[in-house]
Amino acid sequence: MALPLTKENFFWHKVHSLTGIIPIGFYMVQHLSLNSFSIGGPDKFNGVINFFESIPKHFLLILEIVAIWLPLLFHAVYGVFIANRSQGNYFSSKYGWSQNRMYTYQRYSGIFLLFFLAYHVATTTVAKYLTGNAEVIKFDAWHDKLMQPWWLALYLLGVLAASYHLAYGIWNFCIRWGITISEKAQQSVQKFSLVAFIALTALGWGALAGFLIPHEQAPTPTSTPVSESRIPM
Ligand code: HEM
Ligand code: HEM
Repeated sequence: MALPLTKENFFWHKVHSLTGIIPIGFYMVQHLSLNSFSIGGPDKFNGVINFFESIPKHFLLILEIVAIWLPLLFHAVYGVFIANRSQGNYFSSKYGWSQNRMYTYQRYSGIFLLFFLAYHVATTTVAKYLTGNAEVIKFDAWHDKLMQPWWLALYLLGVLAASYHLAYGIWNFCIRWGITISEKAQQSVQKFSLVAFIALTALGWGALAGFLIPHEQAPTPTSTPVSESRIPM
């Protein structure tokens, strides 16, 4: 049975909604963009990892906790609560069956993301901190993992679910916050959400493909031939 929308949970619902866009939505867009450096090959991708590794450890950890982990944890836990209690025709029946279906998919994708991200963060950032070895998140580790069909399928699905969840979430967010009021404005944002869904999926899948496509080997430094070396006279 649905709970009444009391003042308290109205507030927390708004906070939940906001965290979906800021910071989590923003984080995901930059995360998939930086991951797509894999298309440029191991040096490019590992260059990004090395950049983050060069940030002083304590500062990086505080940044991760405050800007990613806490908002994501709150969004996930409160999201499960909402998903359990909410009904399909949450906003109004005027959006009809297909809107209800899309909203239902958003709740399902949220639950899937809970498991996917728990696994993903445990095997990337957490594994890196526990082993003290950034190799576990570098190009070769991704290549080896994604060569296995099950992990590739999981990641393809994870990117798809996250892209759908965020893209449809933008549309919902704009209505919830009164940014789009007229039918016309809502239709425009719906088109934007569709483009965002396709673009984010392409970005993430492109990043995954980058770990599997062949890359040119970086030329290994060779010693200068004697004939070409400058011999001081
Ligand atoms: C193309 C697929 C993906 C790849 C290759 C990938 C890669 C990575 C890597 C390398 C890390 C470790 C970063 C570090 O500790 O420095 C990481 C962490 C993380 N990823 Fe992904 N990721 C992918 C998809 C996603 C998606 C769809 C999300 C959803 C928002 C996501 C959310 C996260 C989060 C929350 C962390 C922990 C961040 C931190 O604490 O610094 N990832 N990912
Ligand atoms: C970790 C697991 C997650 C769970 C369980 C979850 C759950 C949910 C649920 C149930 C909703 C619908 C809220 C409502 O009807 O009012 C929602 C909305 C939303 N989520 Fe998530 N989510 C998760 C991860 C994410 C991630 C990784 C992102 C961003 C990349 C995100 C962004 C959003 C956005 C933008 C909304 C729309 C906010 C609104 O309706 O105003 N969520 N989430």
